[in-house]
Amino acid sequence: MPDTYVGAIDQGTTGTRFMVFDRNGRVVANAYERHEQVYPEPGWVEHDPVEIWENTQTVVTDGLDDAGLDADQLEALGITNQRETTVVWDADSGRPVHNALVWQDRRTTDRVEELQEAGKVEEIREKTGLECDAYFSATKAEWILDNAEPLKLETSRTRDLRERARNGELLMGTIDSWLVYNLTGNHVTDVSNASRTMLYNIRDLAWDDDLLEEFDVPEEMLPEVRPSSDEDFYGTTDPDGFLGAEVPVAGALGDQQAALFGQTCFDAGDAKNTYGTGSFYLMNTGNDAVESEHGLLTTIGFQLSDEPVQYALEGSIFVTGAAIEWLEDIDLINNAAQTAELARSVDSTDGVYMVPAFTGLGAPHWDGRARGTLVGMTRGTRKPHIVRATLESIAYQTRDIAEAMEADSGVDTTTLRVDGGAVKNNFLCQLQADIIQTDIVRPEVDETTALGSAYAAGLAVGYWESLDELRENWQVEREFDPEMSERDADKKYSRWGDAVERSLDWARE
Ligand code: G3P
Repeated sequence: MPDTYVGAIDQGTTGTRFMVFDRNGRVVANAYERHEQVYPEPGWVEHDPVEIWENTQTVVTDGLDDAGLDADQLEALGITNQRETTVVWDADSGRPVHNALVWQDRRTTDRVEELQEAGKVEEIREKTGLECDAYFSATKAEWILDNAEPLKLETSRTRDLRERARNGELLMGTIDSWLVYNLTGNHVTDVSNASRTMLYNIRDLAWDDDLLEEFDVPEEMLPEVRPSSDEDFYGTTDPDGFLGAEVPVAGALGDQQAALFGQTCFDAGDAKNTYGTGSFYLMNTGNDAVESEHGLLTTIGFQLSDEPVQYALEGSIFVTGAAIEWLEDIDLINNAAQTAELARSVDSTDGVYMVPAFTGLGAPHWDGRARGTLVGMTRGTRKPHIVRATLESIAYQTRDIAEAMEADSGVDTTTLRVDGGAVKNNFLCQLQADIIQTDIVRPEVDETTALGSAYAAGLAVGYWESLDELRENWQVEREFDPEMSERDADKKYSRWGDAVERSLDWARE
């Protein structure tokens, strides 16, 4: 009998990855494809869902081929995805009615301000655990239903999108739903993704009637909400489809929750920070939905079959890795790997601070109109200072979250598990340990997002038996202990706060 494995589709903001894992959580296949970023207007960000589905099929096929694996060797498939990004599609043809509105898209900021002025902030926070912000799916779904082209019938009549949605002719979902629908034909989502829509009541564990009414999103178009690891499976792939095998799709998690799961943060107090386009710092709070008083989100971490939901506190930082990409875009660097060398070539930023608020500021400030700021420059400021200030901005933004997290949870974080592309940068990891004065732990498998969704799917089909088995798979690759004195770290951090104020002030003009 050939060995068997679990596959994970990791559909992220910039591209789609397929990975296959063995029982020890080791990677045996890996393929990746980028997709186009569509910027129709400043602040608008779209993806073509059809391109995403095509790329998904390509990476799954290529990943298996390159590793010499057969689809029949997959015991289950897990999905993890960029969260909040919203797709509306025709149930009959499977065609999207509009491009997906990406989580970074700010086009609904006016609508959010209208909700804020109407005093809806508290109600939204209480029900969904979220800030009233354009980041989440609700205002995006509303925008698509208001603005996508209505169906033109052969008779001169056009049919309103909402009427079609109420008839179940249109479906809405986040990217997990879009992929599960294409893989299995079923319309489902998991609790962690549902909790990012701003339509789902995280305490009642149901779509919220008042919010559906507020955004005029008919319930008929929404997916069924299921556990993140589901022994009943979301469905199976079509043996006559692109994969040529009947594989259970048995787990899904929003990518940040998947990283929490892949880092085996299964117990209250366990925390991780993922450094991708943005950074997302999550702490498991067990079965308690802890309300934040310091600008964090309360969100659903994960749910195993027949188990209660586990909640998390989350600090969402919109721009970290994307700030490095920006340095590349403006030709200050050729590639991300260069940043460590350049930053090390100077002792400090010489007082330069960079606040990469390119798409507003997320946690803990939640100001959609804040803008990027570079302050403290002199005639002596050089490229390495700016590069170093950009890396430092990642560490400072994380400290903003770490402080809020400790204040909300009462838990003193002594170690923080990290993952994501940027943690390959040792300079950044050391800087992070120094700035937050906490040990930073990097695991051996740094693709924890894909691993987490493979774990969720594999647990559902009995490929892995227990959480303890997964804990044993987790190994430290390197630990970074603080080398900077607490006094120096505090001093540098206090000036950061001043720089952030400038960035927020810009919004107030
Ligand atoms: O909430 C947005 C987040 O899920 C996006 O993650 O890694 O695709 O940038 P990433």
